[in-house]
Amino acid sequence: MTPDPVLSLVRPDILELAPYSSARKESAGGQVWLDANENPVTPHAGVPRLNRYPDPQPPELVTRLASLYGVTPDRALITRGSDEGIDLLLRAFCRAGQDSILITPPTYGMYAVAAGIQGAGIVKVPLLREEDFALDAHAVVAAASPVVKLVFLCSPNNPTGQLLDRDAVLHVISSLAGRAMVVVDEAYAEFTPEPSLVEALRDNPHLVILRTLSKAFGLAGARVGTLLGSPALIEVLKKIIAPYPIPTPVTRAALEALVGHGIAAARLSALKLSTDRRRLEEELKQLPCVRRVWPSDANFLLVEVHRVPRVMAAACAVGLVLRDRSKDVPNSVRITVGTAADNQLVIDTLSRV
Ligand SMILES: Cc1ncc(COP(=O)(O)O)c(C=O)c1O
Repeated sequence: MTPDPVLSLVRPDILELAPYSSARKESAGGQVWLDANENPVTPHAGVPRLNRYPDPQPPELVTRLASLYGVTPDRALITRGSDEGIDLLLRAFCRAGQDSILITPPTYGMYAVAAGIQGAGIVKVPLLREEDFALDAHAVVAAASPVVKLVFLCSPNNPTGQLLDRDAVLHVISSLAGRAMVVVDEAYAEFTPEPSLVEALRDNPHLVILRTLSKAFGLAGARVGTLLGSPALIEVLKKIIAPYPIPTPVTRAALEALVGHGIAAARLSALKLSTDRRRLEEELKQLPCVRRVWPSDANFLLVEVHRVPRVMAAACAVGLVLRDRSKDVPNSVRITVGTAADNQLVIDTLSRV
């Protein structure tokens, strides 16, 4: 029998691990719950009733998120933001001191941090700066030696903003079948008309997609990410995720957002932010302190300026918080698209630099 393509890449000790069996997992129904050492009541009547442990993966929320992203529920795992999804993947696939991840800098910093926490190595294949940070797909495939267990591709990429070329990503996915997991982080997917790579999941069990409610849905404070992958992968990750990762108030908030008009509102908001981004980009390009604005498919812009410290100081003086990204891309600041008033403050402030 051929081994499952995902399971053959998972750490052998994780495959053998007996997961913690929580009371909620074991309970077979009934009305009087005396199995989890909970308080039978929430004593203070002034706070919401939260005396019961939540379902580890609330089925209604799993179903709604799966339907939002176009997969069956057995392909979706709810996590505390995508950040937890990244961490779980590192733990499941990388043995400390032995295995590595591959990243394409400049990119989202948590991949490297999660690797550092897990004691995994990091192989870097930079995006091609002279081609607007395009993916060097052939170099990625060539650098994916047997110790590389996870390849992280972020599209649209943070902090540069651009979508990665779909064919280049598909080339990496098809070339690495059976060799490494390919994780496509689509945190900013709602801001682009380009379809998600979710369609590719069916034929590629080694593909993982990360989505989040933190951006277009405006729920960063709730911490709801969804990891999409093969049913075998989801089962492995359920073994290592915390017993009760999703707090009850978070589930309620997410369910309220994931109704028809809530989803429509999120799509409209993403569309508006994309339009505002284009306007902000045009206005920034006119300013003397700005050298270049990188094209973006997300809700932020990476801006190359003449003098970063001056820009940061001017922003700070008016209470405007921007992100200095100079250590990733020389002389650059990242600016998130805000409200019309926020964006105007950016232009007014930078025009004085
Ligand atoms: C590319 C990317 N992935 C994941 C995350 C984390 O998202 P979450 O809030 O779902 O943990 C971020 C946050 O900024 C991000 O930029």
